[in-house]
Amino acid sequence: MAEDAKLIVDNKSFDYPVLSGSVGPEVVDIRKLYGQTGMFTYDPGFTSTASCESALTYIDGDEGVLLHRGYPIGQLAEHSNFMEVCYLLLNGELPSQLELGNFSYTISRHTMLHEQLMSFYKGFRRDAHPMAIMCGVVGALSAFYHDSTDIADPLHRRISSHRLIAKMPTIAAAAYKYALGQPFMYPDNSLSYTGNFMRMTFGVPAEPYEVHPVVEKALDRIFILHADHEQNASTSTVRLAGSSGANPFACIAAGIACLWGPAHGGANEAALNMLREIGTPERIPHYIERAKDKNDPFRLMGFGHRVYKNYDPRAAVMQKTVREVFAALKVTDPVFETALRLEELALSDPYFIEKKLFPNVDFYSGIILSAIGFPTTMFTALFALARTVGWVAQWNEMISDPHQKIGRPRQLYTGPAERDYVPLGQR
Ligand code: ACO
Repeated sequence: MAEDAKLIVDNKSFDYPVLSGSVGPEVVDIRKLYGQTGMFTYDPGFTSTASCESALTYIDGDEGVLLHRGYPIGQLAEHSNFMEVCYLLLNGELPSQLELGNFSYTISRHTMLHEQLMSFYKGFRRDAHPMAIMCGVVGALSAFYHDSTDIADPLHRRISSHRLIAKMPTIAAAAYKYALGQPFMYPDNSLSYTGNFMRMTFGVPAEPYEVHPVVEKALDRIFILHADHEQNASTSTVRLAGSSGANPFACIAAGIACLWGPAHGGANEAALNMLREIGTPERIPHYIERAKDKNDPFRLMGFGHRVYKNYDPRAAVMQKTVREVFAALKVTDPVFETALRLEELALSDPYFIEKKLFPNVDFYSGIILSAIGFPTTMFTALFALARTVGWVAQWNEMISDPHQKIGRPRQLYTGPAERDYVPLGQR
């Protein structure tokens, strides 16, 4: 362990302990800083600030490493399935056959929504964005499942976690059906988690639906790739909302709201829209020039990441999955050629090399989801569905942490100092 960090202010020296995690950078423990010095630290965007202790997910952005409970994402994507990854994130260890069977069964018993909740959908316009519907419906779960909102009770926390994971596919699929004007499909618990979601989305009550095994596997893998990602914006939002003691359904609704933004989960939708706008490989250089122009707000969507300064390991799996889905469905999409060429040109351009901008998970995911048949507006909803397990696991970890406090950042105040109120007639 490193020696204490020293801070010298006005010739006075203060020592702060340096804490070591199991892997990754050490952190300076500044909890006593304000009490001792009367000063805050300033770190907009939390670029250098650890807000919590966590044993869930580890990222080494320079090396392009992502581990869930120690297991590399590539191995999980290749050999595991989403239910198993959910169990791993929630419980810390991979399940035995029996544990996995019991867990999958439990989740399948929570897939239905309270019937009255289904009538919520009718209050939305048919062209509502699925994320708008998901924010509303997930928040409303707290009005229906009072028996699992006592956050101090570990059993309540477990049941609400299971409910959220189980109901999210039903909620997302219903948002899709509502936009189409098709009847809602009730869950079929004889199917896998992902197969059930596919049937609720693409099936109709008038005829049987057959789950395509390659597409099921690909979608399940996409869910694994999105399951958790350390203290990203939406996860931090869930933790912050939860730190006040808010119920889990409200906290996850807050996470969904944050995820919606184009700099976060909305990037998969924005990336595919961008690739379609570029259209053909000849037009790529024009867009690369625009991305480099400081006077143009345009950015290459699906490129760059706060943490990864190397290839996002999830993007590599996504690229491979595009080929598998195209082969299985016997389809192709010129946008994939455009994406591959854009990646090639950007990665050989000094601007992107110097700034260490690489494709992130969102660069290829939209191409797969589009080939499977999802409209772009559903992309972020799928991300929210998959990330729900990460959110609830992180939320549970926070509530169980004895050091947990309400999240309350400080500020550097730059507004007016105290001044007297001037009556309206004298201004
Ligand atoms: N295209 C062009 N330039 C970029 C891009 C991009 N996609 N991303 C970053 N840059 C440039 C910035 O202009 C900045 O340049 P400067 O230093 O000359 O000012 C530099 O690279 C650093 O960028 P920041 O925005 O400061 O980095 P930050 O860590 O705050 O942002 C972010 C990361 C938001 C992901 C950013 O790279 C971005 O906007 N990318 C496009 C949106 C996207 O794909 N988001 C998905 C993220 S992954 C996820 O949420 C699942």
